[in-house]
Amino acid sequence: MPVFSAYAPGKIILFGEHAVVYGRPAVAVPVQQVQARAVVEPDLRAPSGQVRLQANAINLNQTLAELPPGQPLAAAVHAVLAALAIGKPPACTIRVTSTIPVAAGLGSGAAVTVAVMRAFSAFLGRPLTDEQVCALAFEIEKLYHGTPSGIDNTVITYAQPVYFIQGQPIKTLRVVEGFSMVIGDSGVKSPTAVSVGDVRRAWQAQHDWFEALFSRIGELAQEACHLLEHGPSRPLGALMDENHALLQEIGVSSPELDKLVQAARQAGAWGAKLSGGGRGGNMIALADAETAGQVVQALQAAGAVRTLVTEVK
Ligand code: MEV
Repeated sequence: MPVFSAYAPGKIILFGEHAVVYGRPAVAVPVQQVQARAVVEPDLRAPSGQVRLQANAINLNQTLAELPPGQPLAAAVHAVLAALAIGKPPACTIRVTSTIPVAAGLGSGAAVTVAVMRAFSAFLGRPLTDEQVCALAFEIEKLYHGTPSGIDNTVITYAQPVYFIQGQPIKTLRVVEGFSMVIGDSGVKSPTAVSVGDVRRAWQAQHDWFEALFSRIGELAQEACHLLEHGPSRPLGALMDENHALLQEIGVSSPELDKLVQAARQAGAWGAKLSGGGRGGNMIALADAETAGQVVQALQAAGAVRTLVTEVK
């Protein structure tokens, strides 16, 4: 039996994080510079039905039977077996590697899940469709953070810019006027589950106020979608600035993120905001190609532990 491998990209949310969990639209794009990879190899010496999972980054080297079913990688494998109605797969080892920083808003969990599902289903001779992968990965996202909107598994599965509303058919976007996006990592690890849970409690306590904030964020995502599809791109920056201010009000920014956002603006970015769950992780800034280098330098000087420049087009 040959070896099977699959990749999945990282992702970044341009507009609408958190509000998207409450039914508002959001816009996200894949980030191809960082990727999760899964490789499945037959294990001829192991007994039939044994699936071994190896992920050195998290010191994981165990068989499926040894892992709790709720462990996210094990859950991804179980989900594939259940979807394909396979009880006893040929013995194999699944190796997972990833260059996507963890707990940083870049979708590492969803990307690992998508890569494992694709590689494992291909190994079993019945590759899942994108639709199946996306739906199953959404179930696994719930293990990572309770009440996901589904945007991460969607943009990562389809690897295209998306305009996303929970429960509605996905709309992929054609960006007419490309631009540079600088991603700056605050270096503060911040699991999405924590910020999503905190926002839920705050929303329960101040329902109407949070609903109003989410609605305005949704409007910004809608305006952004129009600008992405019809141009021009530059006004996206002002929309980002407003989106960041709303995320500050929601309580998911941090001094480190605010400092990076400010530094990017001062260096000539069109606009900037935190991206993803917040509290830590990454921020993004839009710029033209000539200014992107200055923004990178400013972010590094302001404490970013990692920067990435990606073209959105
Ligand atoms: C996480 O990438 C984005 C959040 O909106 C959560 C979600 O949509 O599931 C914070």
